[in-house]
Amino acid sequence: MTSSDLTHQLRSAVPSQAYKGLIDSVLPALINCISDIAKSLRTSHYVSQAGSANAFGDDQLNVDVLAENSIRDAISRCPFVVTASSEEDPVERHVQIQEEASTGNIPEENYTVAFDPLDGSSIIAPNWTVGTIIGVWQGKTALGQPPASKLVASVLGVYGPRTTVIVALRVPGSKPTCLELGIGENGVRDGEVEVIRSAVRLTESPYKTRYFAPANLRAAADDEKYMSLITHYIQNKYTLRYSGGLVPDVVHALVKGHGIYISPVTSTSKAKLRRLYELFPLALIVECAGGAAIDPADGTNILERPLGDLNETAGLICGTAEEVEFAKKILLD
Ligand SMILES: *[C@@H]1O[C@H](CO)[C@@H](O)[C@H](O)[C@H]1NC(C)=O
Ligand SMILES: *[C@@H]1O[C@H](CO)[C@@H](O)[C@H](O)[C@H]1NC(C)=O
Ligand SMILES: *[C@@H]1O[C@H](CO)[C@@H](O)[C@H](O)[C@H]1NC(C)=O
Repeated sequence: MTSSDLTHQLRSAVPSQAYKGLIDSVLPALINCISDIAKSLRTSHYVSQAGSANAFGDDQLNVDVLAENSIRDAISRCPFVVTASSEEDPVERHVQIQEEASTGNIPEENYTVAFDPLDGSSIIAPNWTVGTIIGVWQGKTALGQPPASKLVASVLGVYGPRTTVIVALRVPGSKPTCLELGIGENGVRDGEVEVIRSAVRLTESPYKTRYFAPANLRAAADDEKYMSLITHYIQNKYTLRYSGGLVPDVVHALVKGHGIYISPVTSTSKAKLRRLYELFPLALIVECAGGAAIDPADGTNILERPLGDLNETAGLICGTAEEVEFAKKILLD
C-alpha cells in the first residue's frame, strides 16, 4: 500500500475540498508522528524520569518528552495547525510555523491540536502497550467549543508488538469514519502504511464473547454500585481484558467488536482522565465506531459539554452502546 492509497481512502471519506488541508496535510503529519514515536520507543531501553513532574504532578519520563517534541515539531511544519496544547504543557499556544513550511499564503483552514503524547507512563517500564491520543479541532481554540461538532478528527497511536493507528473523522457534511492502520518504521513517507480495516465498527448483539475493562477496580471495595456492576460481569461470564493502559484497553473493544471500559467516579476515586487530552478524542473514536462514551458522574455524553478550562477531568464509561446504557443504569440509578 502506498501513502497515496491512504490519502485516497481519507479523501473518499471526506470528499469536500473544504477539508483538503486536514486530509492531505494534518492527518498524514500526525500519522507519521506515530511511526516516529514508535521508533524512538523501540530504542529507548531506559525509560528514566526526565526530572520534572508535569502539570498534573505525574512524573515526566524521557520518552514522554520525545513524543511531545515529535508532535510539536510535526505540527510546526503544518501550516493548517494554528494552536496546540498538550497534557505535558496544558496551555493553548499559537503554533509558530517553521519557515520552510510557510507558503506565505494564509490558509483558509485552521485547526487546534490537543494531545496526550504518551499515555500509559505507569506501564511503560514493563514494556506493556502504551499509546498517543490526539484530537484535531476546527478553529483557533478548543475552549468553549461544542466538542460534538468542532472536534473533527482523532488519531490514536497504539505501540504494542505492532504499531497501529486508529483514525476517526467526523466533519460536517460527511459520514463519520473510523479506520485502523498498520504502520512501518517510516510511516506514510515511504508508503509503509496499510489500511487494516476501513470501517472499524462495534458489533450488535448477539455477541460471541463479552469483554469488560474495569479501571480502578479497588474503588469497588468502597462503592456498592461499582461492586454490583463488577459482580454482574463476573456472574454473566464476561471476559476480563484490562491492562491499565487507556489506549490499548479502549482499542481492544474496537478490534474485538465488543467491550465496555469503565473508569468510575466514586467517593474514593476521583475523576482523573483529562477531558481535552484523553476523553474527547477517545469519545469521538468510539462514537465513529458506533459506540457510546458517557461521563459516569451524570450520564451525559462526553462530547456534549464544552470545555471550560484545559485542565478539566472526568471519569469514563465507553464502548458498546447497550453495555454503556446498562452500566449507566447500575451506577447512576
Ligand atoms: C492548567 O494547569 C497548568 C499547570 O498547573 C497551569 O499552568 C494552567 O494555568 C492551568 N490552566 C487553567 C486554565 O487552569
Ligand atoms: C479559520 O477557520 C474557520 C472555520 O473553522 C473560518 O471560518 C475562518 O475564516 C478561518 N480563519 C482564518 C484566518 O483562516
Ligand atoms: C519491548 O517490546 C517490543 C515488542 O513489543 C520489543 O520489540 C522490544 O525489544 C521490547 N523492549 C524491551 C526493552 O524489552
